[in-house]
Amino acid sequence: MRRIKVGILASGRGSNLQALITASRDGKIDADIAIVISDRADAVALERAREAGVDAHYVDPHRKGPRLTEGSESEIIRLLDEAEVDLVALAGFMRILGPRLLRHFSRRIINIHPSLLPSFPGLHVQKKALEYGVKYSGATVHFVDEGVDTGPIIVQAAVPVLEGDTVEILSERILGEEHRIYAEAVQLFAEGRLKIEGRVVHILPERRSDAGFDQL
Ligand code: GAR
Repeated sequence: MRRIKVGILASGRGSNLQALITASRDGKIDADIAIVISDRADAVALERAREAGVDAHYVDPHRKGPRLTEGSESEIIRLLDEAEVDLVALAGFMRILGPRLLRHFSRRIINIHPSLLPSFPGLHVQKKALEYGVKYSGATVHFVDEGVDTGPIIVQAAVPVLEGDTVEILSERILGEEHRIYAEAVQLFAEGRLKIEGRVVHILPERRSDAGFDQL
């Protein structure tokens, strides 16, 4: 089976990026990280990519808000196309993708989020989970659609919220699961085992042929 090429968009420290780089290097996923793109020139994620010998690019977002300009999106699409990526994985990318990018990579963009969606979409979600008093939180990998953290769910993992947890402690517990399930989701995609029906993602028992992920 051929290995898929993954493009990663990241804004920050890049621990999920690192988990995918390590999983790829250790042969745990049939995927190569082909390119990393950040909207922040100083993102640690870019340093991690360069250290691992992965092509790393800063794309100026040209604005402060949550959305990228059309020009920035075009630049990102150009870079991802040049790298011939099969899959785009958002790893702590703190921008909302516009319709052009979503259409261009339709059903081929995934995101990791630190809550059990649909609970707590958006930002500062570990704090929100603690304040709400939930007894379980967790992590979700989902396909990206036009909403914020609303796309079809691929994999989830739950973690308990324990007495005395702080935002930092809970975030760390969730992060451990994020690193595990992000690699799992990428591998399921690489094996062509994800089938989207409406908003439900079915996980097929058998690997599909090389073209499997084109037929989601
Ligand atoms: C992760 O917890 C990720 O789930 C979250 O940002 C963190 C990035 O950490 N993403 C979101 O909240 C997106 N809505 P990392 O840079 O170490 O991977």
